[in-house]
Amino acid sequence: MKDPGDGAAMAESPLGQHLVKIIGNVCFSLFAFSVLVFTVVAVTYQPADPWFDSPKALLSRSFSQTLANSTLPMDNTVLTTGEDDPRSQSSSPPPLLSNAISTLDCNATDGDPPLNCSSPAALDAIRRYHAKNFRSLVFISYETPVEGSLPGRCEVGWWFRNRREKSRRRYKDYRWFVLSPAENCALKVVQAGRYRSAVVAGRKTKIIKPEINDSIPIINSEAEFKKGRYLYYSRGGDYCKGMNHYLWSLLCGLGEAQFLNRTFVMDLEICLDSSQNSTRDFRMYFDFEHLKESVSIVEQGDFLRDWRKWRKRIGAKKVGNYKVTPMQLKKEQSTVIWRQFPGKEPENYWYRVCEGGAANVVDRPWQAIWKSKRLMNIVAEIAGKMDWDFDAVHVIRGEKAMNKELWPNLDMDTSPEQLLSKLNKVLQPWRKLYIATNEPFYNYFDKLRSNFKVHLLDDFKDLWGNQSEWYNQTRELLAGREPEFDAHMRVAVDTEVFYRAKTRVETFNNLTADCRNGVHTC
Ligand SMILES: *[C@@H]1O[C@H](CO)[C@@H](O)[C@H](O)[C@H]1NC(C)=O
Ligand SMILES: *[C@@H]1O[C@H](CO)[C@@H](O)[C@H](O)[C@H]1NC(C)=O
Ligand SMILES: *[C@@H]1O[C@H](CO)[C@@H](O)[C@H](O)[C@H]1NC(C)=O
Ligand SMILES: *[C@@H]1O[C@H](CO)[C@@H](O)[C@H](O)[C@H]1NC(C)=O
Ligand SMILES: *[C@@H]1O[C@H](CO)[C@@H](O)[C@H](O)[C@H]1NC(C)=O
Ligand SMILES: *[C@@H]1O[C@H](CO)[C@@H](O)[C@H](O)[C@H]1NC(C)=O
Ligand SMILES: *[C@@H]1O[C@H](CO)[C@@H](O)[C@H](O)[C@H]1NC(C)=O
Ligand SMILES: *[C@@H]1O[C@H](CO)[C@@H](O)[C@H](O)[C@H]1NC(C)=O
Ligand SMILES: *[C@@H]1O[C@H](CO)[C@@H](O)[C@H](O)[C@H]1NC(C)=O
Repeated sequence: MKDPGDGAAMAESPLGQHLVKIIGNVCFSLFAFSVLVFTVVAVTYQPADPWFDSPKALLSRSFSQTLANSTLPMDNTVLTTGEDDPRSQSSSPPPLLSNAISTLDCNATDGDPPLNCSSPAALDAIRRYHAKNFRSLVFISYETPVEGSLPGRCEVGWWFRNRREKSRRRYKDYRWFVLSPAENCALKVVQAGRYRSAVVAGRKTKIIKPEINDSIPIINSEAEFKKGRYLYYSRGGDYCKGMNHYLWSLLCGLGEAQFLNRTFVMDLEICLDSSQNSTRDFRMYFDFEHLKESVSIVEQGDFLRDWRKWRKRIGAKKVGNYKVTPMQLKKEQSTVIWRQFPGKEPENYWYRVCEGGAANVVDRPWQAIWKSKRLMNIVAEIAGKMDWDFDAVHVIRGEKAMNKELWPNLDMDTSPEQLLSKLNKVLQPWRKLYIATNEPFYNYFDKLRSNFKVHLLDDFKDLWGNQSEWYNQTRELLAGREPEFDAHMRVAVDTEVFYRAKTRVETFNNLTADCRNGVHTC
């Protein structure tokens, strides 16, 4: 794998470096852990957790050598994806709106007639207020402010972006404001509503445009089909293995397709959990729109129907062994390269294709994987409800806390008493504190409420309740079936809210001296 991270983009961004450091630390230790477990436990064959492993950490070693027989308990407490990745920050930021005060129609004899919300002065005041209070946000565009639902209030909707998020995605907000005259004919904000508090502007903003378009690209004709070159992977042993394994394998397939300059045949039906006998839709977790813009893909169901129809006239090359390398297939001219994954685990994993020499030529397209906009809207809403001004602690408990052999102090170090005393040292009293955690017991953190305004994911469960936007959007995707806000989604949202905090306290490094990956790994 080549490292795309050495670009100039990263050097320009102190935040980028900071993130790299965080992710890098996390990653390195996980990697080390996989090696440890390989020697100590060696039970089954599992890939490392790529979401902790920055490509940087991985590339200096041969993944195949060290991981071949390793295992690790699925660390499902963080899910980092392309939009968190500082490397993808290469494109220029969207234009910042100027905060300059425009020339106002100033009439000193104005007195206080009813304020005109649509006048430029009103929007100026709101912009200045935003620039001052929401430094972590980039305001992309505003609607024209309108009379609010209550007298004396102006309302406005706008699109914004978070500086910490490397994606170009926009989020909407709409609030009310009370304005009053200030010096030099300007106005100033004297009171502002909370996140999405505007009624009138909200109604307007909601209907602007559908935010999510994960429609499936369709091949229209045999001629069009034949013009393409495809790489199709049959289901392998990866199916139903968990999120990390899934992504690591998928990215291998996408990487090989890029290397071969072919279109990858993408199975949207995924299975992330062997215990749950049910398939999920890729789009519940990830941004398919972004994926199809980033890499060349077709949807499998569609593809197979077409292929069956025109089979006789379409050349296909079957490859029945991962040991046939991408390099050997580079010259292959058949319309379809069909990789099959027979045999027993671990021989039948997709990602084995990317091991060995292939690791040097196949780049996994990380930047193509973003979290679903449906989930990111929840993230923006949670952060917005905390006014983008909060600290966060990531408290890892669960199986690790119970495993005293590998993490002797973790349980103790994340006890409510210890948490309180440690957080008191690094955070200001009465700050809003978001706790990202896999601790299932809601009241576990009650002790912290004596010093902080504690927020947990479940405090926001309306955001995925049956009246929510998420519920509607996901139900639509599932063709009317009842959506479930599952553990993978919880982790995704927790991770992203955590990344948006002003001060972040990690379990490993900050709360405990135990090593992330068990004793003697750090
Ligand atoms: C992994 O296990 C296989 C057999 O299960 C063995 O042939 C191979 O040498 C092992 N690899 C490493 C790196 O130990
Ligand atoms: C200011 O307002 C007064 C009355 O409201 C009007 O007569 C005058 O023309 C205005 N001046 C300007 C510069 O708009
Ligand atoms: C308010 O200001 C806008 C823009 O300056 C103008 O078009 C509109 O007519 C004004 N409305 C009233 C009621 O004065
Ligand atoms: C969604 O995107 C596809 C192209 O990927 C486009 O053809 C289609 O019109 C879009 N649908 C909507 C509702 O914007
Ligand atoms: C990749 O494939 C496209 C068409 O499928 C072709 O136009 C292009 O030249 C190819 N690029 C390389 C580097 O082979
Ligand atoms: C799920 O369970 C049903 C019946 O319980 C069974 O028919 C089906 O094959 C199972 N599917 C998978 C993917 O295990
Ligand atoms: C929505 O959820 C509430 C509480 O979770 C439940 O009481 C209600 O029946 C649900 N409504 C529908 C239409 O599912
Ligand atoms: C979700 O859909 C229901 C019924 O279609 C509707 O009443 C509700 O307002 C929608 N909620 C949101 C947040 O869009
Ligand atoms: C957490 O630990 C890291 C690494 O030791 C340190 O750089 C950071 O300042 C600590 N964070 C807090 C909030 O103490």
